[in-house]
Amino acid sequence: MKVLVTKRVFPEAVEYLRSKFEVDYVSTDEGLTPQELAQRVKGVQGIVSQLTDKFDATVIGRLEGVKVLANVAVGYDNIDVPAATAKGIAVTNTPDVLTETTADFAWALLMSAARRVVEGHAFVHSGQWKRWTIDLLAGQDIFGKTLGIFGLGRIGQAVARRGRGFGMTILYNDAQRAPESIEQELGARFVDKDTLLRESDYVSLHVPLTEGTRKLIGTPELNLMKPTAILINTARGPVVDEAAVAEALKARRIAAAGLDVFEKEPSVHPLLLELTNVVLAPHIASASVDTRRRMSTMAAENCAAALEGRRPANLLNPAVWA
Ligand code: DGY
Repeated sequence: MKVLVTKRVFPEAVEYLRSKFEVDYVSTDEGLTPQELAQRVKGVQGIVSQLTDKFDATVIGRLEGVKVLANVAVGYDNIDVPAATAKGIAVTNTPDVLTETTADFAWALLMSAARRVVEGHAFVHSGQWKRWTIDLLAGQDIFGKTLGIFGLGRIGQAVARRGRGFGMTILYNDAQRAPESIEQELGARFVDKDTLLRESDYVSLHVPLTEGTRKLIGTPELNLMKPTAILINTARGPVVDEAAVAEALKARRIAAAGLDVFEKEPSVHPLLLELTNVVLAPHIASASVDTRRRMSTMAAENCAAALEGRRPANLLNPAVWA
């Protein structure tokens, strides 16, 4: 059997796959064009993909003989899962392993934006620091404030747990209310969307990208937030209206933002690049060396399991296994 690895991954993953299958390894970072992908998938049974590979209904419709699409990410909005299910293709992702790493980074953005760490670095680095003054780069407090979380899944919960350590009041909103035991453990209170936006000092996004969460945060939502509030997005770019966020930051309708994901990566709204009250990162929330290595090997294991007739640990469409 043959596996296509569409982009560079950690070498352990490729070694593992090579010990079992013939492997067509695209060892570069550019990714395949749709035309190249169409060529390379011929005669392949397994595909190890990344979030930059678009497997929409058209691409999936053309796949012949493919049994599994193993995505190296927890998010899988790049894959039309119902279309894959209709073709009998198993789709897998890489949950759990990146939960704490991503939560750490959401907090890195939160703290950097609140306490103006990036501005401080630029200030010192450029030689502008001439004297200590009473309100030099004064930011927002974190301890004891209110943290509002959209999406209390694995990562949202890990972010909330950290918030507990900072003595924060935790509010959350989700399509489904969390079990009482989770709410109690986290001290998290379920509130409606508007209450979360009005009462939170920090709003952190942890929902998957679906038609229901696209542009979850736009101008009406930003207008409900406190002028001192800070928005954190480590979920997916299209969950916010990026232009609306840039305008709100410029007009100081919210105090700051920490953004790891963007609507059209790697492009970033030009206004965001001009502002000092936003911390920008290139979609690296899960990027610790250990976690990205484990995500690579986990996808390889999911791929191998499916090809060897074992149910993959992280199967997203169990209907194909029935
Ligand atoms: C994911 O896994 O979905 C992240 O966005 C990349 O690690």
